[in-house]
Amino acid sequence: MNSFRALAPSSTANFGPGFDIFGLALDLFVDEIIITKKQQQNGIITISTIKQNEGIQIPYDNENNSAALVVRKMMEDYRIKDNIDIQINKGVPPGYGLGSSAASSVAAAYAFDKLFNLEINSIQLINYSAEGERASAGTKHYDNVASSMLGGFIIVRNFPRMEFIKFEPPEALYLVVGIPNIAVPKKKTEVARSLLPLTSSLDNIISNISNASTIVAGFAYKDVKMIAKGIDDKIVEPIRKKTIPAYDKIKESAINAGALALTISGAGPSVISILNTDKHSRDVMEAIKEGFAESNIESNVYLCRPSNGAKNQDKISLS
Ligand code: HSE
Repeated sequence: MNSFRALAPSSTANFGPGFDIFGLALDLFVDEIIITKKQQQNGIITISTIKQNEGIQIPYDNENNSAALVVRKMMEDYRIKDNIDIQINKGVPPGYGLGSSAASSVAAAYAFDKLFNLEINSIQLINYSAEGERASAGTKHYDNVASSMLGGFIIVRNFPRMEFIKFEPPEALYLVVGIPNIAVPKKKTEVARSLLPLTSSLDNIISNISNASTIVAGFAYKDVKMIAKGIDDKIVEPIRKKTIPAYDKIKESAINAGALALTISGAGPSVISILNTDKHSRDVMEAIKEGFAESNIESNVYLCRPSNGAKNQDKISLS
């Protein structure tokens, strides 16, 4: 076998108060990566596209491509000298807060591990995937990669050592995602992180811990209303919402239309709302679309469910 193909889904990070801690895999978009081992042994990585998807642009150089950053690090650590070709079918739109770099990174780590039979454990594989986050965030963070890799709802623990706690989401959890068609800066996540305060008041911290605990309880009890009750975030949302036109209005109308809650997806500018039935989903989608339209912004709005995470498509032999 000289090639391996893997798929990894989009994800939403933070989920309100869980900045860098909560991640939920979403079956909204998927990245497909094929890693091929070449005959030559010069340690060169080449990147190409399997299929160019409309409106999706990503860098194809080794230093700025998330998948290449992951593969480079794995090659170094395992002293692999083969030339490697990375083919990408990019489904997750980059820069909109839906775990785009994470999906490519996870699919790359997953495929590389399988291709070389490295049998890396999932914690270490997530750690390699987080290398790819450097491309957009300038630093490693684990919420998107962990949920895209493992599926479901994930709590990231960093201290004293890396651990990921997974919950199977409730059957009744539906999400409506609104992606505004606005220009986002290069390395958007790095920019969005640079806006955040380094400290916060004890009141805000208490409120966020209380809400984050409520969300975890909601997942433990499989109670979507309880999950939604905990979404309010006093620390990050008030700052980042300023970069999302009409955010407060959109939130209010989504809730009036039947959503239980709405927050920023990851570092934005997409918004994500929580529903416990798909009965009101059309109304919520319309409310979000209209909310953006009132600020003269076009948007794409989708109904989605949690995803089960990364998977191998099949073993393939390209030559
Ligand atoms: N936790 C990260 C952030 C997610 O909010 O910066 C980025 O997708």
